Amino acid sequence: MSLLSTKSMAVLMDEAGAEGEGSLKRALGATNLTMLGIGAIIGAGIFVLTGTAAAQYAGPAVVYSFILSGIACLFAGLCYAEFASMIPIAGSAYTYAYSTLGELIAWIIGWDLILEYLFGASTVAVGWSGYFTALMSDWHVHIPAALANAPLSVTGGWHLHTTGALINLPALLLAGLMTTLLVIGIKESANFNNIIVFVKVLIVLLVIGFGFAFVNPANWHPFVPPNTTGQFGVFGWSGVIRGAGVIFFAYIGFDAVSTTAQEARNPQRDMPIGILGSLGICTVLYILMALVMTGLAHYTDLNVAFPVYVAIEHGGPGLAWLKWFVNIGAVLGLASVVLVMLMGQPRIFFSMARDGLLPPVFGKVHPRFKTPYVTTILTGSVAAIVAGLFPIQLLGELVNIGTLLAFAIVCAGVIVLRRTRPDLHRPFRTPFVPTVPLLGIFCCVGLMAGLPLDTWIRLGVWLVIGLVIYFSYGRYHSRLQQRADSPSAAAAD
Ligand code: ALA
Repeated sequence: MSLLSTKSMAVLMDEAGAEGEGSLKRALGATNLTMLGIGAIIGAGIFVLTGTAAAQYAGPAVVYSFILSGIACLFAGLCYAEFASMIPIAGSAYTYAYSTLGELIAWIIGWDLILEYLFGASTVAVGWSGYFTALMSDWHVHIPAALANAPLSVTGGWHLHTTGALINLPALLLAGLMTTLLVIGIKESANFNNIIVFVKVLIVLLVIGFGFAFVNPANWHPFVPPNTTGQFGVFGWSGVIRGAGVIFFAYIGFDAVSTTAQEARNPQRDMPIGILGSLGICTVLYILMALVMTGLAHYTDLNVAFPVYVAIEHGGPGLAWLKWFVNIGAVLGLASVVLVMLMGQPRIFFSMARDGLLPPVFGKVHPRFKTPYVTTILTGSVAAIVAGLFPIQLLGELVNIGTLLAFAIVCAGVIVLRRTRPDLHRPFRTPFVPTVPLLGIFCCVGLMAGLPLDTWIRLGVWLVIGLVIYFSYGRYHSRLQQRADSPSAAAAD
């Protein structure tokens, strides 16, 4: 069987329609899905990276960076919406690639998505630990630095060394807690997420609403600070572009909605609402938030780990009451990102196991909770250990490159499937195909090109490890391969 063999639509539709023993529970409606999207999106990006992007690259024009990155994500989001409504299966980009570009690319994407979801959860858990430790110390509970920092660090790109810290305990515990919740149930997890999302969106709205009244418009001049060094990416319009690359992290997560497609009650209608609704809401909130932050404080003051807090401080005594809410918003907000990321990864492993590319134990569903508990526990444990040991920068870069690669492949998949199966019913159609998917690919590859060489090498090493596993296990156990070898099953397709 060829490495480019695709999984047939008939088989996918059968799997999507499967109910009962061994299948996931269809419990999510449009509101839950949109809330899951917002849960995954609003987090470290807006609460941490906005400050860095404004102070180092774009100034107040970080607002334009948010618009640019939002447009790039919209192209990808429209492609995800077409697939997720058409193939409502848990595997997300992995499944879409399997049905369009073949088993090998599907495997590569499935493996690559670990970078987005598993490492994404670890990255945000580390960011959460910083905010949590600060909040606790406000309440006079002091967590020793040795128990709240990564014991390992990387310098010069590759040199791994110890920092003297023992473990990042809060990050590890958060990942453990979220994993436990995810094993207990999709509905329980979604309900918990709804509460957090409600609180964090409310706090973002408070910052926007009250912050605007205290803005000093002088901070917005010049809106695009000039590039005085001639170096690409340091202010000016090139700074806006580099800022967009950094800010991209803030949008990651809308695609996690598609991993719950097999648990949506009416995926044909609700998947596009969840994906595009959460993306649209967060884009508007981000743009307003960036305007308020750069209006309250001069952008040069925002180069800190908690820029929203600093911006509020610059608003003067009239805004002081909001500082406490901002910390709570960040702690809750980042926790829900970890929750949804840890929800996404096991569902991709689940789909890979059902396809025979991973051992069958990965495809087990808990008899009572109806969750993919084996993969949830495995993913959560690895994410917790990684979060407990590694620093945030190293993890964050890998998350961006892994996600961009997945987005580009999903966009390409839409073009391929429109050509190979124009007859299929598409409850949601990406507009202006192939222009929109091509623009999506262009934006993603452009943003990838801006990432450091070390990150590219790490991606390469990661994919090689994945290929070794595929050629030593997946290729020989693939159900597609077995169907191809069995003439009767192949004929049934
Ligand atoms: N978008 C998510 C965040 O900003 C990953 O934390």
